[in-house]
Order: sequence, then structure tokens, then C-alpha cells
Amino acid sequence: MSILKKHSLIEKNATLLLIGSLVVVTVGGLVEIAPLFWLQNTIEKVEGMRPYSPLELAGRNIYVREGCYTCHSQMIRPFRDEVERYGHYSLAAESMYDHSFQWGSKRTGPDLARVGGRYSNEWHVQHLIEPRAVVPESVMPKYAFLMNTPLNVNSIVDDLKANVAVGVPYTQEMLDNAMADIKAQADPDADTAALLARYPKAKVGDFDGNPKVISEMDALVAYLQMLGTLVDFSTYDQSPKSR
Ligand code: HEC
Repeated sequence: MSILKKHSLIEKNATLLLIGSLVVVTVGGLVEIAPLFWLQNTIEKVEGMRPYSPLELAGRNIYVREGCYTCHSQMIRPFRDEVERYGHYSLAAESMYDHSFQWGSKRTGPDLARVGGRYSNEWHVQHLIEPRAVVPESVMPKYAFLMNTPLNVNSIVDDLKANVAVGVPYTQEMLDNAMADIKAQADPDADTAALLARYPKAKVGDFDGNPKVISEMDALVAYLQMLGTLVDFSTYDQSPKSR
């Protein structure tokens, strides 16, 4: 039987065609998916990435709770217009400690992947209290209540532990010092040597301008100010051979 005849057999028999298609899809799927199980790591390692400090993690929880991701993405795509506006395109490693990731799928507001350091703490606080006070045409909702809501720190150790369970390398020392680290990061007069040894480049300060309480505003602004600041792109080699 010539190959042409064999093919017409498959074309005329729906069951055979279905089985044949399944075989093809299975082989294709195996070739694409199977190697992922043997690769040590599918994320390229990048200098500077570290887990979130406890205060940043608490801020991130508020970001998720308030649904900021419904209007803001955290993923700069490698297109010229995005890179010129927001900075270096996002690397996979930059969200390796995000559970869950905040890439987002909608930009009512700008991408926030590199918003850290772009504005002062005061600007963020003003903007979150009343966005239209600093950006008159803004449609962003107000989050003034964060100022008056003390940060609930009771669950932070459990939060760190939950992250450990999904692979974030928090050490026992980090768990033991979580409460101390939260206090140190929100206090401009604190001794921050230990905090910075555990979480290099962490931004320290009284973020919301009220030294009496650590508020949800403190945590959220601490989180916003670190976004995209960990990788030093002046030393990042993007040539393929280095990967
Ligand atoms: C309804 C959509 C919406 C939601 C929800 C929202 N934002 Fe925005 N956001 C915007 C828009 C629109 C802008 C641009 C105008 C402005 O700066 O206010 C913006 C701007 C910003 C900026 C300034 C970014 C820049 O590069 O100029 C920050 C920071 C920000 N938002 C943080 C947040 C945080 C944190 C939350 C959650 C607590 C949040 N946003 C929730 C719509 C939203």
C-alpha cells in the first residue's frame, strides 16, 4: 500500500483520525513539557534578588487584599515603548519570590514593576490618601483609611512560614527576627544593621509620617518603594552566553 493510500484511510475514518491526532499531540506535548521536570531551574538566577522583608511582605498582602492588581500590572514587556517609559523589561527572577505573582492583565493605571524610588514616601502617602490631590485627572480610588489602620503583625511569622512552604528561602533567623525587623524597618532611628544584613537594600523609614503607629500605609509604601530596585542593571549581563 502506498503512503498515499494509507493517508486516505486515515482521512476517511474518523476514529483512526482521532487516534492519530492524539498520538501526535501526545508526542508533541511530551517533547515540550517533559524536559521541565529534569531542568534544575527554569528561572535564570540574577544577582540581588532576595525574599521580601517582613514589612514589605505585609505591604504586599495589603496590595493583594485591596486588589491593586486589577488596575496595575507588574510586568514590563520587552517592547521599546514600555522600556522607555518604565525601565528595563522585567526578568523572570524578579518575581521568583512572588506567591502569587502580580503580573496582572490590565493597566488602568501605569505598570508598577519599577515604581520603587520613583517618588518620595510623602508623594505615595498623599497619592494614596487622595490621588486627585497630586494627579488631578486620576481615576484611582482613595485609600486614606490605610493611614488609620494599625498594621496587624500577628500573622507575619505564619506568613513567612507559608512562603517557606512554597519554596521561598526564609531562614530560621529570619523567622525569629520577623517582629524586630518590622519595627526596625519602620523606624528611622533604629539600628538597622541586622535588618539590612538579612534584607539588603531594604528601604528604612517612617513611611507614613506618623511615628506613633506602624500603619498599613507604612507597609504598603515600604512595598511600593522596593519594587524593581533589587537588581542592579548596570552589572546585569544580558548576552545569551552568560545564561
Ligand atoms: C480603579 C483602578 C485603580 C486601582 C484599583 C488602583 N489604582 Fe493606582 N493608579 C490608577 C491610575 C489610573 C493611575 C494613574 C493616575 C495617578 O497617578 O493617580 C494610578 C497610579 C498609581 C501610582 C503611580 C504610578 C506612577 O508610575 O506614576 C501608584 C504608585 C499606584 N497607582 C498605586 C496603587 C496601589 C498601591 C493601589 C492599591 C492600594 C492602586 N494603585 C489601586 C488606577 C488604580
